[in-house]
Amino acid sequence: MFDIQEIRSQFPILDQEVNGKPLVYLDNAATSQKPNSVLEVWNQYYTEINANVHRGIHTLSQLATEEMELSRRKIQKFINAKHDFEVIFTKGTTEGLNLIAYILTGKLKKDDEIIISYLEHHSNIVPWQLLCERTGAKLRVIPIDDNGILQLDYLDQYLSEKTKVVAVNQVSNALGVVNPIEEIISRTRRNSDAYIVIDGAQSAPHFRIDVQAIDCDFFVFSGHKMYAPMGTGILYGKEHILDSLPPFHGGGEMIATCSFDGTTYAGLPFKYEAGTPNVGGNIALGAAVDFIEKVGHENLQRHENALLEYAQRQLLEIEGLKVYGEKARRTGVVSFNLEGVGISSDVGMILDKMGVAVRTGHHCTQPIMDFFNIAGTVRASFAVYNTFQEIDLLVEGVKKAKRMLS
Ligand code: ALA
Repeated sequence: MFDIQEIRSQFPILDQEVNGKPLVYLDNAATSQKPNSVLEVWNQYYTEINANVHRGIHTLSQLATEEMELSRRKIQKFINAKHDFEVIFTKGTTEGLNLIAYILTGKLKKDDEIIISYLEHHSNIVPWQLLCERTGAKLRVIPIDDNGILQLDYLDQYLSEKTKVVAVNQVSNALGVVNPIEEIISRTRRNSDAYIVIDGAQSAPHFRIDVQAIDCDFFVFSGHKMYAPMGTGILYGKEHILDSLPPFHGGGEMIATCSFDGTTYAGLPFKYEAGTPNVGGNIALGAAVDFIEKVGHENLQRHENALLEYAQRQLLEIEGLKVYGEKARRTGVVSFNLEGVGISSDVGMILDKMGVAVRTGHHCTQPIMDFFNIAGTVRASFAVYNTFQEIDLLVEGVKKAKRMLS
C-alpha cells in the first residue's frame, strides 16, 4: 500500500519552515532528500565501522568491504547487470561520463563521429567535445522539435561506419522529456558499431532500469538524485568492453603488480576504482536502492506521474504560462515560463519567499535554452514524497508571482 504520510515521515528534513512557510521541496532533479534509512546506514558506517576496504586483514576493514560489496550487488540487481563487477563506483554521473570519454580516446581517430542529442546536460556534451579535441573526431547533434522530442530521422542520417559513440540521456533534466532509448539503441546497433552510452541521471530515480534488456554498453547515474548521499554514483559497463579499455585514474587498488619497470592492472571493478572510495556513501547508496525497492517502482511511478499531470493541468490554466515539452512523454519535471513576465529567477525568488524550492535558469543545458530562445525556465521537479497539496502551493505561488511581476 502507498501511504504518502508514512513515506514523508521518513524524511524529517521536509518537516520544517522556510521563510516562515512550510517547506515545499520541488528541486528533486537537482538533488533529492534522503530518508532516515539512508542517513542511519551512513551514520552507522562512520560511528561503528569506518575502515578502508579491500586492504585490511582486520575485522573492521573486512566488515567495510563486505558492506560495500553487498551494496554493489544491490545496485547490480537494481539495474539488472549481468555481473556485480560491471558496476563501478564513481562520485556521480559527471565523473562517469568523463571516465568513459577518457578511456575511449584510443578508439577514435580524426573525422570519426560522436552522436549526442540537443537534450543533453553539459556533462554529456563537454566530455565528448574534449574527446573530439584529443582525437580530431566530430560531434553530431540529433535535433529536437518544438515539444523537445528528438528527431530520430536525423539519427538515421548521421549513423555510419564513422560513428564511434552514441551518447544520450534517458530523461532530460531540463524538460523531463523521456527519450526513446530502446529505439535509439536498436537503430544504432543496426547501422554502426558505435559504443552506446546512456546518461541515466534523471531516469534512475524514476524508472526500473534493465541494462541487459536495453543492451547499452555503458550506463551512468548519480546517487544523490535517488535518495542517496552526494558524491556517489555508478558506471555500468559491459565486461568485455571494460576489459578491452585502459584504466582512468592510476593509483592504489587498481594495480595487479607495480614496479618501476611497469604496472599491470587489477581486474574489474578495481581497475576503475583507484584510491580510497566513498565507502560510507557507497554503502548508503545500497540503502537508497532498498528504499526505492520497498516503495516499489510501480507505486513510485504512478504517484509521480499523477503529480506531473496535476501540476501541468493547473499551471496551464494560468494565462501566458508556457510549459516546455508540453506534449512530449515526460517524467518528474515541469519546466515553464510566464511569458513576458520577468525572468525565471524573479519567479523563483517569489516562490522561495513562499517556502517553495524550485530551480531556475538554464539547468546546465544552454543549447536547449538557445533552441527555445530563452535564458532559462522555472523547473519544478518531483519525488515520491511530494503531495498534491504541495502542487497547489506551487500554483498559488506562480499566480502570485504573475501578479507581482506583471
Ligand atoms: N543536473 C542537476 C539539475 O538538473 C544539478 O539540476
